[in-house]
Amino acid sequence: MSADDQKRISGEAAAELVEAGMVVGLGTGSTAAWFVKALAARKLDIRGVPTSEATANLARELGIPLATLDDVKSIDLTVDGADEVGPGLSLIKGGGAALLREKLVWEASKRCVVIADAAKKVDHLGKFPLPIEVVRFGHVHTGHRLADIAAEFELLPPRLRMAERGVVVTDGGNVIYDLPSGVIAEPAALGAALKTVTGVVDHGLFLDLADEALLGTDQGVVKLV
Ligand code: 5RP
Repeated sequence: MSADDQKRISGEAAAELVEAGMVVGLGTGSTAAWFVKALAARKLDIRGVPTSEATANLARELGIPLATLDDVKSIDLTVDGADEVGPGLSLIKGGGAALLREKLVWEASKRCVVIADAAKKVDHLGKFPLPIEVVRFGHVHTGHRLADIAAEFELLPPRLRMAERGVVVTDGGNVIYDLPSGVIAEPAALGAALKTVTGVVDHGLFLDLADEALLGTDQGVVKLV
């Protein structure tokens, strides 16, 4: 089965968790897009809270009624992809530059389900460079401070994320620095250190947030808790 098929079956399985009347957090990325499509096909009476402009546009096209995070008291269920799924359902997210809105929506959710293809499951976080969202003002200086923290954790310095058209700017108007880690031995300590830097808005370590994972594998969808 291709990675895309694995993403599709995990997204479809997650769509089955949604019940009428729910407020549903809609993740960002190619796996979350499969979830949004499968959810739209069920035509349930729900409201979706999108985690990015891209997901909002997709959901609107598919006829899913949307709410903002501030429109709702809480979110019943959020379904989102991940770049890595590590021990204890620790995650790296932000490959799609949506980590800030994603984390805000996850933290407002009663239940968070991560969906992914099998290759995303890892023994240690860090092979995927850790995305860090940084305010644009003075971001080069912030990048230097991040490099100092990286050195303390024996990691390589972070790199400003670029795309063909120039610097990547998030939906919140910030930039992303990617920290090429290798192995993140102490995710909680690294996350805490990154948050001490004023220019850092947030980082892509999602620790103690996921309640379960639905991994698409060649043998079908495998649930991790
Ligand atoms: C976006 C994310 C995505 O969920 C993550 O990058 C996984 O993407 P994909 O499902 O396309 O592999 O965190 O910020």
